[in-house]
Amino acid sequence: MNEERLCQPCEVPITDKLPPCPLQCKSPKCKSYKKRAPIDSTKTPIVWILGGPGSGKGTQCDKIIAKYGFIHLSTGDLLREEVRSGSERAKCLTAIMERGELVPNDLVLDLLKEAMLQHAEKARGFLIDGYPREKSQGIAFEQTIAPATVIIYFEAKSETLTKRLLGRAVSSGRADDNEETIKLRLKTFLDNNDQVLAQYPDKLRRINAEQSVDAIFGEVQKILDPIVARAAA
Ligand code: AP5
Repeated sequence: MNEERLCQPCEVPITDKLPPCPLQCKSPKCKSYKKRAPIDSTKTPIVWILGGPGSGKGTQCDKIIAKYGFIHLSTGDLLREEVRSGSERAKCLTAIMERGELVPNDLVLDLLKEAMLQHAEKARGFLIDGYPREKSQGIAFEQTIAPATVIIYFEAKSETLTKRLLGRAVSSGRADDNEETIKLRLKTFLDNNDQVLAQYPDKLRRINAEQSVDAIFGEVQKILDPIVARAAA
């Protein structure tokens, strides 16, 4: 007899195409999927990487991926991919990014969530690079996806950031790596950063990003090693 199986607890019928719930069926009708956090950050750490433009977020993320095998999602990269897609939305994104402003929250969160869900089952951890940049982004992320496990903030002086970005501009090919846009990016960062950080006094770990790449990574490892060990236990 063909017994109908129901997704628990939302009771949407499970077909062959849909793996069982909780959280996996991804059916738009599934109440469970909509309501509950799609990722359990106690088992799959979610690390937010924050810092001003040029503070070394991408550089440190490369090293973190190499050691811990986390999935790296940079909101800047996701947005640049969207721009390359040439969609109608892309034209408006290009203009916003060239002005050094923040793109609308809903769009960034949608891109991020979609990318995270693609990897949710196999990821050892997530590195969310360059998000949140506004207080409301952090709130929306934790409500929609899952609480962040830890927040690593790379701290450096504006002069250092500007110098690094102008150095990178020689070869980056990025439309926003020019003196005028760098000023605007820094202003956007400084306008929002304190408010973002103030929301997470318990999860925030500050690292002096004026040090060498390896010294910074040494501090990153002191933060991540115990978190990874706890998640694996
Ligand atoms: P995004 O691409 O995220 O740019 P960013 O935050 O300005 O940061 P960068 O990628 O330029 O720098 P980084 O910190 O990764 O430094 P890196 O390691 O490359 O965002 C671009 C735009 O997208 C935003 O302006 C906004 O419009 C939009 N956007 C993105 N996220 C958004 C969001 N959440 N909401 C809304 N809009 C969003 O290093 C820089 C240079 O320094 C390199 O040359 C590197 O070799 C060098 N360097 C690194 N570390 C060191 C060190 N310790 N010592 C010496 N040199 C170093």
